[in-house]
Amino acid sequence: MRNYTLIFCLLLSIYTSAQQNNMKAFIDSLMNKMTLEEKLGQLNLSSGVGNLPVITEGEGKIEFIKKGLIGASGGYNSLKASVEESRMGIPVITGRDIIHGYKTTFPIPLAMSCMWDTERIEKMARISAIEASCDGINWTYSPMVDISRDPRWGRVAEGAGEDVYLGSKIAEAYVRGYQGDDLSKENTILACVKHFALYGASEAGRDYNTVDMSKISMFQDYLPTYKAAFDAGAATAMSSFNVIDMVPATGNKWLMTELLRQQWGFDGFVVTDYTAINEMMHHGLGDLETVAVKALKAGIDMDMVGQSYIGTLGKSLKEGKVSLEEIDTACRRVLEAKYKLGLFDNPYKYHDKKRAKEVLLCKEHQDYARELAARSCVLLKNSNNTLPLKKEGTIAVIGPLANTKIDMLGTWAATRDTEPIITILEGIKNVAGKKAKILHAQGSFFTEHPYLLNVNNKTGKEITINKEESKAKLEEAIETANQADVIIAVLGEPRKWSGEAASRSDITIPACQKRLLQELMNTGKPVVLILSNGRPLALTWENENVDAMLETWHAGVQAGNGIADVLFGDYNPSGKITMTFPRNVGQVPIYYNHKKTGRPIDHTHKFTTKYLDVPNEPLFPFGYGLSYTSFNYSNISLSKTNLKGNEELIASVNITNSGKIAGEEIVQLYLNDPKASVSRAVKELKGYKKIYLTPGEIQKVSFVITPEDLKFFNSNLDYDWESGEFNIFIGTNSSEVKSSSIIWNK
Ligand code: BGC
Repeated sequence: MRNYTLIFCLLLSIYTSAQQNNMKAFIDSLMNKMTLEEKLGQLNLSSGVGNLPVITEGEGKIEFIKKGLIGASGGYNSLKASVEESRMGIPVITGRDIIHGYKTTFPIPLAMSCMWDTERIEKMARISAIEASCDGINWTYSPMVDISRDPRWGRVAEGAGEDVYLGSKIAEAYVRGYQGDDLSKENTILACVKHFALYGASEAGRDYNTVDMSKISMFQDYLPTYKAAFDAGAATAMSSFNVIDMVPATGNKWLMTELLRQQWGFDGFVVTDYTAINEMMHHGLGDLETVAVKALKAGIDMDMVGQSYIGTLGKSLKEGKVSLEEIDTACRRVLEAKYKLGLFDNPYKYHDKKRAKEVLLCKEHQDYARELAARSCVLLKNSNNTLPLKKEGTIAVIGPLANTKIDMLGTWAATRDTEPIITILEGIKNVAGKKAKILHAQGSFFTEHPYLLNVNNKTGKEITINKEESKAKLEEAIETANQADVIIAVLGEPRKWSGEAASRSDITIPACQKRLLQELMNTGKPVVLILSNGRPLALTWENENVDAMLETWHAGVQAGNGIADVLFGDYNPSGKITMTFPRNVGQVPIYYNHKKTGRPIDHTHKFTTKYLDVPNEPLFPFGYGLSYTSFNYSNISLSKTNLKGNEELIASVNITNSGKIAGEEIVQLYLNDPKASVSRAVKELKGYKKIYLTPGEIQKVSFVITPEDLKFFNSNLDYDWESGEFNIFIGTNSSEVKSSSIIWNK
């Protein structure tokens, strides 16, 4: 058996190196024939010819493609022009932001992360690639693996939350799903890991703001997700807008070359974020020529939209500021990606109308979107078993997000036709069946806040709310609610309030929606709050007052059906939040794996770490989420309590489904190193298991812990572990845990 494995490995390595040689020979011969302009063209991603600095208006994009001056662009006509009318015939590649499905839009990435289910996320990414790849797309600007601890940042919707361990597992799953096992297949696409790096740590959660952090935090808590995605084979990366150690990522040689390529061994190509080279001028790093030189020298291969490479690198080469070798290196990397996709063999394979007809929004994909919409829900509160609802009686579905199609999709959705989108009202009608009477009223606008209403208003005419209309909506809602046995309030954020350039300083539900909720509660009927939003919200008041709260996020094309499956108990919710929910915005940034302070909270002592007006603990901790059943945890049993060197520890708990229905539980393992050479986090996630238990069933869940799990970055940035005591926690969320401890020496 061993011999066969050896022979297989040998043959594989012979085959791989033969392939590498073929690719090299092909690209050598291509590049020998290319002019400098054509090489720079490969480094130029154009989304159209606008009034950007270099390519002048007048000539259309297609004309530039024919001259070989654009290497990446979208649309069939661009591809055709590059293949059939440019001198070298090099196909353009086509990138798009396919981040949670293509035409079949799945829940936003933050929502899907709450499943803690890498297999399902991988399948979602696979479906995204299958759909996008027949519609001309062979490169997705995903996954976004930026860790963020700040729900004010609108782009938390695009990521997997605050934890680096879970985030890394999810990052790998996306890459596997998009790229499959063979990039040259017609239904696999290039992944692009973004935004390299640290974009999620923008100060005050304001998008595009500056970032400042210690190297030790970077390595411990932020960089591992990117590394995991690269280790999983991601073919491309995108630079971030922010600075790292005061140097913009896009011009940061330490980041892009020393770390990414030399230490981590990445061999794909790096594209900038949108005009990020040009933006280095705003960062104060010099004129366009200077910043383009910086970017190339740092290791950036492709310029997204900014035209700085195509416009200035020729001159910089003549002046000796860059070398031909540096340009060639970048050009080769881009051509290699095209080669790996098989674009030189068949440039048109990603435009396949027949395949598109079969797969886009097909039943199988929609069913899967429904399943993920249900599985991404997190039950935040359920007093007196208000949920699940019975499929009978009169149900009032009220709120500005109850029947709005487009808002179900969330940020970066490629679904253009709203017809397939199922609203929450529609889903409830579909699932509740004939025995239930469903009433509906909108109840309120999303907001009446003048600043929020006008923030992106380009019309020149101030948007104001008609007070009469607002009053009428509220009255209609109260009247509707009074006729019902139970009220479902659907509140939160429309899709444009999260995603890029959508930071909020106030993360509560807007006043007019809250007023509606108060009025609904005044009816004295049970109120279930369904939240549809793109970030953790501060829900302290809601949590104190409503009977049940279900976080449904922006749940995608099948939002309504999936959410209704949960509401009526056809699916027992199993999601757990992957970002901490604060009590108020003043607690932000807030995250479970924080450091200790020298003055732990003590209410009998003034000079200890605390707020005067709010507890230190969040409203809902990382990893929290309820089920319609309940789970009991036994104490932890350990295979050993005193370990040495590379031994393994097995930590187990018995979990009992102590409720009346079957359900899934996400069992979480956290470790803590209470005495070390640097101050360590109070706990860090190191494992999790999702189990399914029927009522009364008991299951033993075991985690194998090795010294690898004890490692951390010390002050010298060495990644190692230190002998001593370790605390082990296993529980249902990051704060409700069983604990035990061990001694482990080297
Ligand atoms: C965003 C990226 C995105 C790119 C292309 C940028 O503004 O930051 O995440 O991939 O645009 O759409």
